[in-house]
Amino acid sequence: MTKADEVLAEIEGMTEEQFLPIVGPDKGKILVKAFQKVKPKHILEVGTLIGYSAILIGKELDEDATITTIEIHAAEAKEAEENVKHAEIPAKVKVIVGDALKVIPTLKDCYDAVFIDAEKTEYYEYLRLMEDKLHRRTVIVADNAGIFADQMQNYLDYVRKSGKYQSRYVQVGEDSVEVSIKL
Ligand SMILES: C[S@@+](CC[C@H](N)C(=O)[O-])C[C@H]1O[C@@H](n2cnc3c(N)ncnc32)[C@H](O)[C@@H]1O
Repeated sequence: MTKADEVLAEIEGMTEEQFLPIVGPDKGKILVKAFQKVKPKHILEVGTLIGYSAILIGKELDEDATITTIEIHAAEAKEAEENVKHAEIPAKVKVIVGDALKVIPTLKDCYDAVFIDAEKTEYYEYLRLMEDKLHRRTVIVADNAGIFADQMQNYLDYVRKSGKYQSRYVQVGEDSVEVSIKL
């Protein structure tokens, strides 16, 4: 078992005692598979929590890959940094503390893969704010497209109907992720 697997197992164990809305191993498999197809070097995550998904994504990447992840709460961001450090993953992880609605417009990189997993009613705004930093074939995975579909309907309508994305709904147990590829 690698250090990353140990940290992931530890965080999964924490969910048995406290509410911790991590993506989890099942939806996580879909996320990692979707990202592996594009071999991303620059990854953007919106909603770090304590770093579970960043570690899950980062453990499969090369040393020259960078994950930029945004978390509004400083305490969670600090815990994420510690977890990432313990996980010893090859990819570099940069945790930015702040409101994604304010942080995204300040980002300079172009992203090959994006994971959106923060405030459900803001998914559409996150995407619109980052759209000039995405390129053809950038893959965007949005969590909770099943259980919180009503709160992110504008996002789902946009990726499915704007003509700018090829999008599919992937059911995983009782929830789902929306996997969208920029055209
Ligand atoms: C569902 S959790 C993320 C789980 C994480 N992606 C994982 O799977 O391990 C959502 C996180 O988004 C953060 N968040 C909510 N609104 C945000 C915003 N506007 N900007 C940045 N982070 C936000 C919350 O504080 C919370 O930690």
